[in-house]
Amino acid sequence: MAFPTAFLDELTARNPIEEVVGQYVSLSRKGSNLFGLCPFHSEKTGSFSVQPEKGIYYCFGCHKGGGVIQFAMEIENLDFPDAVRWLAKRAGMEVPEDNTRREGYHRQERLRELCREAARFFHAQLSTDGAKAAREYLAKRQVSGAIVKRFGLGFSPNAWTGLIDAMKAKGYNEQELLTAGLAVRHPTKGTIYDRFRNRLMFPIIDVRGNVIGFGGRVLDDSTPKYLNSSETPIFNKRKNLFALNYAKKTKEEMLILTEGYMDAISLHQFGFDCAVASLGTALTEEHANLLSKYTQKVILTYDGDEAGQNATRRAAPILEKAGLSVRILKMQGAKDPDEFLKKYGPDAFRGLLNNSENRAQYLLGAMQRKYDLTQDDQKVAFLKEAASFLAGLPNAVERELYTIRAAEAAGISPTALKTEVEKNFRRRRAEQKKREEKKNLEVANSRQPDERALRYANLRSAVAEEGLLRLLLREPELFTQVQLTPEHFSVPLFGRVFAIWRTQFEQGRSVGIAALGESFAREEIAHLSGVIQKEQTLVSETALKDYVGVIREEYEKTQVSAEDRLRQAHERMREKHYGG
Ligand code: UTP
Ligand code: MN
Repeated sequence: MAFPTAFLDELTARNPIEEVVGQYVSLSRKGSNLFGLCPFHSEKTGSFSVQPEKGIYYCFGCHKGGGVIQFAMEIENLDFPDAVRWLAKRAGMEVPEDNTRREGYHRQERLRELCREAARFFHAQLSTDGAKAAREYLAKRQVSGAIVKRFGLGFSPNAWTGLIDAMKAKGYNEQELLTAGLAVRHPTKGTIYDRFRNRLMFPIIDVRGNVIGFGGRVLDDSTPKYLNSSETPIFNKRKNLFALNYAKKTKEEMLILTEGYMDAISLHQFGFDCAVASLGTALTEEHANLLSKYTQKVILTYDGDEAGQNATRRAAPILEKAGLSVRILKMQGAKDPDEFLKKYGPDAFRGLLNNSENRAQYLLGAMQRKYDLTQDDQKVAFLKEAASFLAGLPNAVERELYTIRAAEAAGISPTALKTEVEKNFRRRRAEQKKREEKKNLEVANSRQPDERALRYANLRSAVAEEGLLRLLLREPELFTQVQLTPEHFSVPLFGRVFAIWRTQFEQGRSVGIAALGESFAREEIAHLSGVIQKEQTLVSETALKDYVGVIREEYEKTQVSAEDRLRQAHERMREKHYGG
């Protein structure tokens, strides 16, 4: 199943990490290492390091790390095999695929090609006689011809097997059409029919430019208004955003997140090429992480209705957690960006962008509108709710500023509210601390095997093991002098790494992250990168002896105590039998 390590060796050799990273991050040299701004979290001073000699990257801020394959996985959103293929392509190498792997990949490639063909078919249909209503609809909504072309909009004919027939003629079978979410099997007849009929078609394209699915809109008021492709092996609504394939190239410093395909398309048409839309689902953590790869700032422009406002409240903290700064568009006179642009034009919309609010402003505003602040009892209720919210703002300046604003809104002096907010804040902080302590305790006691692998049960040995791995990475010839087995290691992860590296060395291959292949979890590789990025300054011969000595000593202690335990158990047994 796995790729041969000899191949992974060559792959990493032909894709120097500093070159690959350099395509995404501007790096500057400091000694033998390179530094830059971390592409995985937002920061102003560079804590992202690349160590070409070791073939690793490591961020001191967010603790992500690994070799060139892990970097490709992280930055391009790929799984291990696809990252390998991507790097192979970059270096012009052939990938040795085994049969199951080749078939899996081949099947997905076929699905991607099928979706692309389907998009071509729908687009071509738009110029046929049967698509008159669709063309009229587009005209009515003022969608320009250029935009229709750019987004590859199309039309699914009002027939049961329009797409199916066309795709069969191109060599695709029924199973493939079903798997791609383009056809549906009739429950009783057993035949298959087109999923999308008589709809305006929006191809959904991933960041690498593959058509992965569709949204289809009715041309009238029938329901459902939008139909989306079902989840398929290549289409995951939680991980993709409409129009991000274009928006990722924008020169704007932000991305605009909308609720609807039409909103995103309108924005692009009016010159806001930084707009994306979610695919009829609530915003997910995966979406937020994806966005954070391309921008530091997201403007939420969900609809003004209740559903849209709820979605805004849910989305904002998810985006903030991904390190994004969030602003919320305040829109009046239209229900969504599409309607606003058509009514008031792009300059007015630019004004809205410039006046967008942060989360505190937005929530306080919404709170204010809920109460009638001319009534004393409502004023009190408002101030109570506001104090509780304000106490949750982690930033002291923000807390102070918005406390003053809230007091002004209620027409009282800020002093009293300030006292209330600070009291709330201290209470919250104490509670949070308690919660964290409890959580830490739970983590320490949890029996998650992979988490436990990263925790050091024996710190003295673990530190020696770290040092030993660093030495062996720098001077693999030292393997000839180390008479240890993986069982000697107190940290299972290090034992596994040791075993693989030793085999690599014995087979005359290079020792490093690449050799570890895909049998290690991302957190394990990141942790290991953190370990090996450290400088190894000690003179190697003595250091080697010391490390091995400590590891043996600590190992023997565990053996002795195991023997002790066994002997004690024996003694207890005898006491039981012979009554002491
Ligand atoms: P809206 O109903 O707000 O759509 O749904 P819209 O973009 O304003 O549509 P137009 O302007 O009438 O054409 C927002 C999004 O929710 C999803 C779609 O992704 C849509 O773009 N949705 C909506 C569905 O998936 N199914 C539906 O039936 C309705
Ligand atoms: Mn709309």
